Formats: sequence, C-alpha cells, structure tokens
Amino acid sequence: MNGRLLVQNAMMVLPNRIVEGDLRVSNGLIKTVAPFGGLQPEIGELVIDGTGLHLLPGVIDPHVHFRDPGNPEKEDLESGSRAAAAGGITSFLDMPNTSPNATNRLALEEKIAVAAKKAVTHHGFFIGATTNNVSDLQSVQGMDGICGIKIFMGSSTGNLLVHEQKHLENIFANTGGIIATHAEDEIRLQSRIAEFKHRTDIAAHAECRDIECALIATKRATALAKDHSHRLHIVHLTSGKEADWLSSKKGDLITTEVCTQHLTFDQDDVEKLGVRALMNPPIRYTEDKEKLWSRLKDGTIDCIVTDHAPHTLEAKSVGFPKAPAGMPGVETSLPRMLTHAKEGKCSISDIVKWMCAGPAKVYAIKNKGSLIEGFDGDLTLVDLENHRIIQDSDTWTRVGWTPYDGMELTGWPMYTIVDGNVVHKRDSGGSLRGSSVALAGSTGRVLKFN
Ligand code: DOR
Ligand code: ZN
Repeated sequence: MNGRLLVQNAMMVLPNRIVEGDLRVSNGLIKTVAPFGGLQPEIGELVIDGTGLHLLPGVIDPHVHFRDPGNPEKEDLESGSRAAAAGGITSFLDMPNTSPNATNRLALEEKIAVAAKKAVTHHGFFIGATTNNVSDLQSVQGMDGICGIKIFMGSSTGNLLVHEQKHLENIFANTGGIIATHAEDEIRLQSRIAEFKHRTDIAAHAECRDIECALIATKRATALAKDHSHRLHIVHLTSGKEADWLSSKKGDLITTEVCTQHLTFDQDDVEKLGVRALMNPPIRYTEDKEKLWSRLKDGTIDCIVTDHAPHTLEAKSVGFPKAPAGMPGVETSLPRMLTHAKEGKCSISDIVKWMCAGPAKVYAIKNKGSLIEGFDGDLTLVDLENHRIIQDSDTWTRVGWTPYDGMELTGWPMYTIVDGNVVHKRDSGGSLRGSSVALAGSTGRVLKFN
C-alpha cells in the first residue's frame, strides 16, 4: 500500500543540514524535499503539521529477536513490529535463534511469508550458521529478505553455536554476503562459567563473561574476515578494549555496532536493575561506556542497534544466574538516544547517522536511511521537547516491560510512517503508548539488499 502524504513545516534532518520545510511522499516514495517549504496539499493527500517537530528518516534496527516462530508469549512478528513502530523504527533485521532455529531456506521462506501477513514495518532476516549447514547458507544467498549469516561464536540464548576453527573457516571460505558474529569465545566462556558457578551476585555476570572473552572472539572473527576477504559485521560491541583494537584494524571489510543499553548503562545500573539488565555480552563498566561513545563518534562503530531480546518477567524472576539474558529495546532506543542528545552527548544529526544512514550502509539496504528524493517514504516525526516517564504498562512488546521503567526520557516519536502510511501515532498530551494504526500485513515489505 503506497501512501500519499505531505509533512509541512518540520525541521527536516537532511544528510548535510537541518532545515525547516516540507516533504511530500507520493506512491510510497519521497517525491519532494522542499527546504523553506511552500508545498501545497493535493487532493486525497494526508497532511501532517510538523510545526515544532523534527523529521527523521525511519530508524533501521538491524538487530532484533522477535521470537517468531516458537515463543509468542515473548514476541512475534506482529507484536515486535508494532513495538518497533512505536519506537520510530520502520525496518528491522531479525535474528535466527527462534524455535526452530532459522538455519535453512525453508525456515527463512516461512518467516518471510509470516512477516508479509503480520509485520507493520519492513523486515529482513538472518540465517543462522551451524557446524554443518554451509549448503543451506549458500542456498539463500542473494534472496530478497535475507540480510546475512549470523554466527554465535559463544553460547547465548538458544543452541546456535559455531566456535571451532575448522567450522568457522569452512563458513568464511564458502559463503558470500555479510557474516554477523556474536563475538564471545566459547572455550574461555565455558571455563569461566564453571569457575563462577557459586556466584549469585549479578556483578558476577560481567566478571564471568569478561572483556577478554569478547576480545578473543573479536580478534578471531577479524582474522577470518581478512584471510577470506569476507564482509564481517561484529554485533554488539561492549568493551573499550575491543573498540580500541578495532579502530586500526577494521578497513572496509569490517563493520560493527553498539547497543543503546551499552551506551547508557554501567555496573551501577546493573546493581539497581538486577536481572532486567542481564544480557550477553554483559553491560560493562563506566570506562567501557565512555569509550564506546568516543569510538562511535570517531567512526570506528558504524551504527546503533537495540538487540531487542524479550524474555518474560516470569522467566526473569528466577533471579541470577538462572534468569535468561536479554532485554526489550525497540520502543525506547530512539527516545533514549534523543535524551542523550538533549543531555549534550551527541547531536540529532549524529543520531540519524547512527540509527538510519549507518545501518542502511552496513547492510546495503536499498533506498533507505536518508531524506533524499526517490528514497522510500519511511519517516519518523519526533518531538524533542516531549518529556515523559515511561512505565512497563506503556509498552507494546508482548513481555510488557522495559529496562527504563520509571525513567524520564525526553524526545518521542509522534508519527512513524512506512511507505507514506502512518503506522504509529502519539499525541503530546495523550497516552505514552500511543496508537498502533496499521493493519497487520498491510504495510511492511521484505527488504532488498544490494
Ligand atoms: O542477551 C542476549 N539475548 N544475547 C544474545 O546473544 C541473545 C539474546 C536472546 O535471544 O535472548
Ligand atoms: Zn542479539
């Protein structure tokens, strides 16, 4: 469904400047970007008054776990995509550690078919690597909707794991496209889990899954990418050491990302939030958080992601160390980053670079991530002054909670627009949850990759 829409008098965050003006979406595409305005409404066009709002390209989140199929009590492609839309996200890339795992063409075709019926935003999917599925990995190469191969080099949620060198070499040698690695070293991890098994205090999590675990795997993945000239994306960088090490080693072949929560939380938040802040790789220390910010600013880190990984509060309630790792994030990532901007940590243009243009570039997603004529009409209109305290009950994710419960965030998406269609809307005085206004399956399309 290709929407027709005119946004008037918004502060448009363009690739090189911010300027007040109008933007028209026609037939689902950005038809006109008019700095200084002057566009007149046409018959049948939805007109949105953007006065006082900033117009951003729709956010692209290249790292979510929407649990479809297998765990609808945590999320599915409908609830996850509605939650994403509530957070200003118009495209997402979904991870393969579902039940069953997405490790072959049939499973991926099924996911794409389900997303076509249920997703309210655009979508792409990773295929999961196993120790013996290279032919499956090859079979989805170049298929629309397939963004890359995910390798868990260390165990996390689910049972996807490839850590032996011979298996990794086989995958890097015999596949194309992008390999995205969860970089934690399995051998070190297992020996430390055994060593730490008597610790029940949550601080033990970051001590156990330590920086060395991550650094070893990051170095191994980098060497594999270079030896095989294979595009590599290292997901959720967490430590200053990895970011420093990568800064001189990346070249064009390697990209990386950071999660909003690793830019926001440190050891003190883990103490306060407990198992809600439990994730892999862990939330680390103040110095890591600050270093990640500086490596984001100097371009070592290419984009910001959520790693939206919902688990029910009931599952979390068993406490550390048994609680599952992961937290929801799609609804709060943009407001959290806008709050960082408000606090002076970065600019609104930085946020567009890191959350819109950056992910589009990393995954070579066609025609998205910037307000450019001819690009897709995916937009987010945000109110930078809207400050609200978010509570668990404000969320769309099926698990019904957020690690930011009780915190005030300043800067909220008021309209999220996919192909020129409004999919989520908030009023400044209305409920923070807002309204999800898309019909399931009517808006999101499968993403195409160059
Ligand atoms: O904390 C995490 N949760 N890290 C992962 O690698 C997986 C994710 C999940 O799927 O729950
Ligand atoms: Zn993840």
